[in-house]
Amino acid sequence: MNHELAIRARGIRKSFAELEVLRGIDLDVPAGSVFALLGPNGAGKTTIVRILATLTSADAGDITVAGFGLATQVHRVRRSISLTGQSVALDDLLTGAETLQMMGRLWGLSNQDARRRSRELLEQFDLTGAARRQVRHYSGGMRRRLDLAASLVGRPAVIFLDEPTTGLDVRSRQTMWDAVRQLASGGATIFLTTQYLEEADQLAEQVVILDGGAIAGAGTPTELKARVGGQRLQLVLATPAAFDDVCGRLGGRALSADRETLTIEADTDGGAGQVRSLLDQIDPDRRLVQRSQLG
Ligand SMILES: Nc1ncnc2c1ncn2[C@@H]1O[C@H](COP(=O)(O)OP(=O)(O)OP(=O)(O)O)[C@@H](O)[C@H]1O
Ligand SMILES: [Mg+2]
Repeated sequence: MNHELAIRARGIRKSFAELEVLRGIDLDVPAGSVFALLGPNGAGKTTIVRILATLTSADAGDITVAGFGLATQVHRVRRSISLTGQSVALDDLLTGAETLQMMGRLWGLSNQDARRRSRELLEQFDLTGAARRQVRHYSGGMRRRLDLAASLVGRPAVIFLDEPTTGLDVRSRQTMWDAVRQLASGGATIFLTTQYLEEADQLAEQVVILDGGAIAGAGTPTELKARVGGQRLQLVLATPAAFDDVCGRLGGRALSADRETLTIEADTDGGAGQVRSLLDQIDPDRRLVQRSQLG
């Protein structure tokens, strides 16, 4: 279905009591593409994802997902999609392998096929080494990856990822990005939400900006970046220890981090005030950062 639309939506509206959350949203997502819905907290991203994934009904709108009409073919839509949400729901007492095997059994696979699929997914998400460990001993990044792997057992054609990297550190985020790229190269359609233009830029071919329940812009990441005009601050750290320290302090705000060159990039508006306050926060004594430069 490569030339078709994986998602087509016209005029999605949704209110919760008097609160109008979506005010007429149109979306076209080509099959086999990575699409990002970008917006700040409360913009309505999760609400759209829940509607497209059949978990919440829209008040109005005409929606097709994976070629099936949401109004009439809910079950076929459900068999064609997966959703990995903002909060991870895993059973802490199962191991990673058991989690995936259980999902396989729920999807109707034989024991043997469920085990095979579990092994494949553990490998794909870099969890083979942790396969026999209980989920309660997993790090946040590992849990996100396992949660995503579990949603893929049924080989969905359309994959919804609601803020897949919010709250992850730089390294876990990179691993998640690699996993998304791998899924995309396998031909799936990926619909992700994010608060970061950088993340949309890394992953998506098309971006729609959502603000206050309405579409505030659309285009390729390059087009949108040219409009927003944010600037990157490049930091070169003095030592590997300083690098680890600053990585820890920046957390999810780091755009990239390369331990070999001791270089970290962070997002700023390019203003002197914001750059100084960022440096004050990560390196108050000015000992860790060897060089900083806007680019
Ligand atoms: N079930 C609900 N009942 C009432 N209000 C809701 C409900 N779900 C969402 N909202 C409201 O709808 C608005 C949009 O919420 P939504 O969760 O879609 O935003 P979001 O873009 O996903 O934000 P975030 O980045 O914080 O996840 C918010 O004002 C939220 O409080
Ligand atoms: Mg949300």
